[in-house]
Amino acid sequence: MDLLTNPVIVLLLVLAGIVILSAATRALRLYAGRDYFKDKVVILTGASRGIGRELALALAKQGAHLVLAARSADQLDAVAKACRDINATIDVITVPTDVTDEAQLTRLIKATLNRFGRIDILLSNAGILQGGVVAEMDFNSIRRQIEVNLIAGMRLVQLVLPPMLAQGEGHVVLMASAGGRHSMPYITGYCASKHGLVGFGEGLRREVAGKGIGMLTVKPGFAATDMVTSAEPAYRKMGFQMIPPERIARRTLAAVILGRREITIGLVENVAQWSSATAPVLGDLFWRLFMPAEFPELLSKQKTE
Ligand SMILES: NC(=O)c1ccc[n+]([C@@H]2O[C@H](COP(=O)([O-])OP(=O)(O)OC[C@H]3O[C@@H](n4cnc5c(N)ncnc54)[C@H](OP(=O)(O)O)[C@@H]3O)[C@@H](O)[C@H]2O)c1
Repeated sequence: MDLLTNPVIVLLLVLAGIVILSAATRALRLYAGRDYFKDKVVILTGASRGIGRELALALAKQGAHLVLAARSADQLDAVAKACRDINATIDVITVPTDVTDEAQLTRLIKATLNRFGRIDILLSNAGILQGGVVAEMDFNSIRRQIEVNLIAGMRLVQLVLPPMLAQGEGHVVLMASAGGRHSMPYITGYCASKHGLVGFGEGLRREVAGKGIGMLTVKPGFAATDMVTSAEPAYRKMGFQMIPPERIARRTLAAVILGRREITIGLVENVAQWSSATAPVLGDLFWRLFMPAEFPELLSKQKTE
């Protein structure tokens, strides 16, 4: 009884109550939306491996019809087969696409509409990373990251919006990065492209509000895919955990069902983002104090193309 007169204990109990209540509400909403993806037509770019592959498998499990796009036709076919093996009731097509090629993007949209007659969800996930020292690196490498990660994503959104607006519903998901709110040294071109994508998503969300279009921007921390192979030891030294790509897929689909606008995946990444927004000096200090000596060299080797 005495405990309940202690304001600190009461505050802790209230906080615990809020946490439990919000977790229970979230679980109930996810349960209610368990059929959300069933028979939805989803275009997924960057579907040939990594996070995209996991998204494809998770969507297949939940009954979505899939249009899988990336450049590597063989890898796409393997992912399509794995999706059909998971769920024989879904329709899966592959459309080998370089997202930086306008004609190929148009073909992707046409192939989807010809086969399914509608586009319910765009998951713009294709991306590349090229590390390097700004003062020394080839500028074409920065330009290419902007083209693949930002310009192609924006153009694809522009192409899917007319059919979605005509349907009166749709959902756009942009796979950005925690680096889209907290930039890291030696991958500045990548971070700049992701900042652009986050900014595009924020503005577009406000533009399509009330028109039946949902907008989600996903900002994952580091995940163990081709994108971190060289740099992983340096990231680990700094306390970043490698997030399993399956978790990113699971969190992304849950965020669509819950109607979330922006999510950041990763504890350190959430703190880093907060520091960038409110106290950039803290972020600068973190990098000054904790960046391992080998970081520039390892990050300069990190190239996915
Ligand atoms: N891994 C991480 O730590 C991390 C963290 C935050 C955000 N992300 C983001 O998550 C997304 C997926 O990354 P990931 O980690 O899965 O990387 P990944 O394993 O290297 O996969 C990248 C995917 O993008 C596709 N792609 C690249 N260039 C393309 C192009 N020009 N046209 C079409 N497809 C292209 C690749 O397919 P093809 O080569 O077959 O074309 C591949 O399917 C990216 O947007 C990335 O920025 C990753």
